[in-house]
Amino acid sequence: MPFDVNSLENHWMPFSGNRDFKANPRLVVKSEGMYCWNHEGGQLIDGSSGLFCTPAGHGRREIAEAVYKQMQENDYIPHFQMGHPGSFELAQRVARILPDPFNHVFFVNSGSESVETAMKIVMAYNRARGEHQRLRFVSRERAYHGVNMGGVSLAGMVRNRETFPVTLPNIVTMRHTMTPEQAFQKGQPDTGAELAEDLQRICETYGGSTIAAVFVEPIAGSTGTLVPPVGYLKRIREICDEHNILLVFDEVITGFGRTGKPFGSQAFDVTPDIITMAKALTNGAIPMGAVAVRDEIYETVTNASPENAIEFFHGYTYSAHPAACAAGIATQKIYEEDQLFERADDMSSYFLDAIWSLKDHPLVKDLRGYGMMAGVEVHPHGGAGARGTQMQKDMFWNGLHVKFTGDVAILAPAFVAERHHIDEIVDKFRKTLDQHA
Ligand SMILES: Cc1ncc(COP(=O)(O)O)c(C=O)c1O
Repeated sequence: MPFDVNSLENHWMPFSGNRDFKANPRLVVKSEGMYCWNHEGGQLIDGSSGLFCTPAGHGRREIAEAVYKQMQENDYIPHFQMGHPGSFELAQRVARILPDPFNHVFFVNSGSESVETAMKIVMAYNRARGEHQRLRFVSRERAYHGVNMGGVSLAGMVRNRETFPVTLPNIVTMRHTMTPEQAFQKGQPDTGAELAEDLQRICETYGGSTIAAVFVEPIAGSTGTLVPPVGYLKRIREICDEHNILLVFDEVITGFGRTGKPFGSQAFDVTPDIITMAKALTNGAIPMGAVAVRDEIYETVTNASPENAIEFFHGYTYSAHPAACAAGIATQKIYEEDQLFERADDMSSYFLDAIWSLKDHPLVKDLRGYGMMAGVEVHPHGGAGARGTQMQKDMFWNGLHVKFTGDVAILAPAFVAERHHIDEIVDKFRKTLDQHA
């Protein structure tokens, strides 16, 4: 069969309108720094760090060279009962920026795998500590925890669930934290902390001792940047403590500086028991995720088995892949040497002010934001999500990449962005809003 270089047919694309895309392709053929270039030579500024993956900007040579060197030296070894030095160095580097007492990191290949792995760690830990009755998980409306079956079961986004009705049992959802009074509030809303009492009600209804863990994103990212109200996460932590329930922060988006601190946990001054991460771990260059746990969790699970036994029957063929570890180490060095988290913190107010300049646009329904992350919600038109989907496509041709979920744009530029980059992102965003007005 001849190879048709112009055929787009064979790739069934993820989270995409395949028929529409193949009729009107939008290909990116090059990326560097804050920019990408499409197949027609047009330049786009990246307003969402791809999918919140590239805080250090695209095309970092340090990462490419580290991966190349690693691939020449040792391209692959499994991590079951053997290892390579890179995974230990990367785990140590990640542990250094995690809150105390998080000193143990389990590597996976994506955010979705980090969620599944966290669920299994919860089960292993509860078994090891003799709490066999803790069979229930709590999550939240409008949550996104990836696409594997555990994460879909925890999800609070209808489109991610309705096609897949066979999910895990025993999952209870709290309400999301967005309320009408919070509209256009920059940073943490000062109302809505009482929504944490949903967890207390769930404990009273089901029995706190039956709940294994509560999963929350510190900032719910994929439903459009729902920033936690002041006091909300602290109250969730208190209720978990009262009932001995594990608290899991899904930091797949908020990890690695997005909030201006290494993790959302530090930004909001609430320490969970387990933290999931991915995306910016390797600056998006090689797929990788991880789950970090408090020392007590690692020790309880490992000490529950006889010496020499495998303590946790879980892992992936590509867990801690040498190339991913090399990318991760090079990325963490960049974050540290270029002080990118501090840079994100410094740039945040300029970024949020620029986003808030869109406030009076007639198409804008709400603005939300924290750190280097903002949600711009537009008034729906032609059915929920139709305008957002069209705007995302139009932005591509207007020289801007922004990720939309439904009618909410999620802006999350790289931390290497200069002020003029932020201005360019917002100007191009406004131009597309004007086209739709
Ligand atoms: C909070 C959260 N968890 C999990 C995931 C899934 O990550 P991945 O797409 O790498 O599987 C995402 C992806 O956006 C996410 O935002």
